Amino acid sequence: MKHYKGEVTALPPDKSISHRAALIGALADGTTEIWNFSAGFDNQSTLGVLQACGITLSQEKITVGNGDVIRKVVIHSDGLWSFSKPENKLMCNNSGSTMRMLSGILAAQPFESTLVGDNSLMKRPMQRIADPLRLMGVDVGLSSENTAPVVIKGTRGLHPIDYALPVPSAQVKSLVVFAALHAEGRSSVIESLPSRNHTELMLGLDVEKLPDGRNSVIVPGPMTVSARPFHVPADPSAACFIIALGLLNPGSEILLRDVCLNATRTGYFDILDGAGADVVLENIRMTGGEKIGDILVRYSPAMSSLRLSDPAMVANVIDEIPMLAVLSACATGEFELHNAAELRGKESDRISAVVNNLERLGFLCDEYADGFAVTGKGSVVRGKVPVESYDDHRIAMSFAVADTVLPAELDISDAEVIGVSFPEFFGIIESLAQ
Ligand code: S3P
Repeated sequence: MKHYKGEVTALPPDKSISHRAALIGALADGTTEIWNFSAGFDNQSTLGVLQACGITLSQEKITVGNGDVIRKVVIHSDGLWSFSKPENKLMCNNSGSTMRMLSGILAAQPFESTLVGDNSLMKRPMQRIADPLRLMGVDVGLSSENTAPVVIKGTRGLHPIDYALPVPSAQVKSLVVFAALHAEGRSSVIESLPSRNHTELMLGLDVEKLPDGRNSVIVPGPMTVSARPFHVPADPSAACFIIALGLLNPGSEILLRDVCLNATRTGYFDILDGAGADVVLENIRMTGGEKIGDILVRYSPAMSSLRLSDPAMVANVIDEIPMLAVLSACATGEFELHNAAELRGKESDRISAVVNNLERLGFLCDEYADGFAVTGKGSVVRGKVPVESYDDHRIAMSFAVADTVLPAELDISDAEVIGVSFPEFFGIIESLAQ
């Protein structure tokens, strides 16, 4: 068996922050420089639709001091109303963040636009974005299954709104914030549970604590957004795969540099810490309003199995759950998850995707409406085993990590989907392998 050792300085830039930096740059008055923008297909889709809406931007590759190549994006805009009517349907490809957050901006533009995506995105729930926009006075059309195409007849006369989010979703929160920036008057977006807060941090919005403990994001519309540079840290939701690789493989020791450690994203580390995994966060500091740091991970043979049911923790680690499940199954043969029905509406139905693949690999699983359990290792499966990516980057990467430790040889379908968020994935693993 290989072990994985070394330092990673070129993890993918954070996907959530890259999307937001591009969208905020398109709304800002002036020139926005985004340093270390993600090369992932999802973030490139956001740049593509912005250009289709008449936003002027450029992207260049720059070699930095340590030899890593990063991307710098420069966006020029005259502020909130710089969008123009796209000639064609806006193709968001696999990116739910692009479709949902951009809809908040298009709702305020005085023209009709239609957003579409790939097969996966065309099946994902969109009622959650139509509801608040309709309350703000926008005409939004969806398919009969409340999915894309999303047809938005935008208006410059958006009403402000006090909106309590029915699901903990940072994409929907951001959509309402982006729309409310354009409205005549103060809006508030109230979270049922905290979700990633990059949008409010990057826009410098006030967040009030309500008496019941919920967060209320205040948007003083119409709000002029001043252009400022953004530096995108590495993505903790990409780091999670390399960390699991290090934890599972004997003799491994990996240092990951400059990873975003925003508290709305770090539940993965708390869960691993509670299970006795050897993951140390160090060199923690603030840059550009975000906490970042380095992560040192070592092989952890004594890890205990993971059990996850607290709704606030589930919301915090929503993108890391496939890897947590596969990690716990490979390390201990057990895992348990509840209160995670949201996973069924991701790039794939991540509950059945993980269960189906684990069962093919010989694990014993029970599936529930809102989660699943892995109850044992069953009989050892060897030889080539076909595993489905379900066209979902996080499913493909979770099982690619499992492939490094299981006796079976996994044949993952359409593994190129990993490029959605982590084009450098196999290259980084290869560079660490010894
Ligand atoms: C994201 C929010 C989450 C997450 C997605 C990125 C974001 O989705 O799963 O990968 O950048 O706001 P939801 O808002 O649907 O929970």
